[in-house]
Amino acid sequence: MKKMWESSFNKETDKLLEKFNASITFDKRMYEEDIKGSIAHSRMLGKQGIISSEEQKEIENGLLQIKNEIENGTFEFKIEDEDIHMSIEKRLTEIIGAVAGKLHTARSRNDQVALDVRMYVRKEAKKIKKLLVNFENVILNLSEKYEDIIIPGYTHLQRAQPILFSHHLMAYFQMFKRDITRIDDFLKRSDEMPLGAGALAGTTFDLDRHFVAQELGFSKPTENSLDSVSDRDFIIELGMIISVISMHLSRFSEEIIIWCTSEFSFINLDDAFATGSSIMPQKKNPDIAELVRGKTGRIYGNLMAILTTMKALPLAYNKDMQEDKEGIFDSIDNIKLCIEIFYSMLNTVTVNKEKIFDSMKYGFLNATDVADYLAKHGVPFRQAHKIVGEIVSYCENKKIAIEDMTLSEFQNFSEIFREDIQNEITIENCVNKRNSFGGTSIQNVKMQIKNAKSFLETI
Ligand code: ARG
Repeated sequence: MKKMWESSFNKETDKLLEKFNASITFDKRMYEEDIKGSIAHSRMLGKQGIISSEEQKEIENGLLQIKNEIENGTFEFKIEDEDIHMSIEKRLTEIIGAVAGKLHTARSRNDQVALDVRMYVRKEAKKIKKLLVNFENVILNLSEKYEDIIIPGYTHLQRAQPILFSHHLMAYFQMFKRDITRIDDFLKRSDEMPLGAGALAGTTFDLDRHFVAQELGFSKPTENSLDSVSDRDFIIELGMIISVISMHLSRFSEEIIIWCTSEFSFINLDDAFATGSSIMPQKKNPDIAELVRGKTGRIYGNLMAILTTMKALPLAYNKDMQEDKEGIFDSIDNIKLCIEIFYSMLNTVTVNKEKIFDSMKYGFLNATDVADYLAKHGVPFRQAHKIVGEIVSYCENKKIAIEDMTLSEFQNFSEIFREDIQNEITIENCVNKRNSFGGTSIQNVKMQIKNAKSFLETI
C-alpha cells in the first residue's frame, strides 16, 4: 500500500503501527464535515485562481460521489488509509486521477481535522440543545398537570417543609435552561473557522479564509494559525457542558429512584419504561433512571481524559490530539440517548396522590410555620425555634401531629397562640404563604411556568 509520504521513506510501514496509528474506525463519522470542508476549500481555491474552475468542478463532483458511496454503504474504509481525510483523498484520486492531488493545496491534515471535528461537535451540540428543549416541554407539561399537588420538601433527605410537586419539577426546568444557554454560549465561542491555518504557520497561497468561513456557516476565520491547529478547548467545553447535563440528569434520576421505592411510592413508572426481575416477581425496577445515573461516570471520565491529554502538549499539532475524538463522541452519543429516554419515561410517570397525602401527616413539615407564627407576633425567631422544638418533642411522645394539638396545648408552650394557629399551619397554607419571589406558592409556580413558556418561545 502506497503512503502519501513514501517518497522520503525507505521502508514500508509496520502493520502494527498502521493499526495503532489509525483513527478511521472512529473518525469516519466525520465524513460529511470532511467533504463539506473540502468542497468549500476547493471553491475558494477556484475563486482565487489557485486551481482552474474545471479542476474545481471535477473535485467537487468526485467528492459528492464519495458522499453517495459512503451513504449507500459501498465505500470501503481501510485501516491502511489511516483516517477519514486520507481515505477520502485516496478515493478521490481513484475517481478523478491526479487532479485530486490539487485539493490539498494550501491545506494540511492539521487544519483539516481541526475544522472537521469542530463542525461535527457544533452540529451535535445543536441536536443536544433540541433534545433539551423537548425535555423542558415535558417538565412543563407535568408541572401543569400536577400543579397543586403538595409533597414533602427535603433537606439532608429529611422532611423539611411542604412544597408543590410542580415547584420541585420546575427546579429542574431551571437547571436544563442553564444547560441550554451554556450550549448557546458554546456555539458562539466556537464560531470560528480554522481551515487555512495550514500545518501550523499559515500558507504562502493567497487564500480567502473569510469566504471559506462563510461557505461553511461560520461568522469568521480563526485569528492565529498556531492556535487554530492546537486548540481543542471546544471539545473540552462541550464535554464539560455534557458533564453538567449528565449531573443534572443523574440528580433527577436519583429522585425518580427514591420516589419509586415502596418506602416512598410517590410515583409510578409506566410498564413500558420499567423492567422486571428474572427471579422476584414483585419487582418493577427503574432501570432507565439507574442507567442514566450510571452513565454520568463515563461522561465525567471522557472529560477528564481530554483535559489530561491536552495538559502540557506543546504547540502546535501532536498526534496525542487524535485521542480527542472517541471520548467526546461517546459523551455525545450517550447524552443524547439519556436525555431522550429520560424525558420519554418522565412523560408517562403518574403520581400517587394518596401516598403523597399520607406522607404529609408525618415529619412535622409545618414546624417552621409554627415558629414563623410566633415570630410574626413579636417572639424573637431563635426563641420561637426553641419553643417549637419543645412542641415537636411533646408531639413525638404523644404520637400526634402539631395540627392535632388543642389550643390549650399550644398555649401551654406560649401564651401568644390564638385560635387562628390551626388554620395558619395547614399544609396548603404552609405552601401558599411561601409567596416570596421564587418561593413555592401556587401563584409563584404559575409565574415560573409562564416565564418558562416565554423562554422556550425565544429559542
Ligand atoms: N487522524 C489525525 C487526528 O485525528 C488527523 C491529523 C493528522 N495530522 C498529522 N499531521 N498526523 O488527529
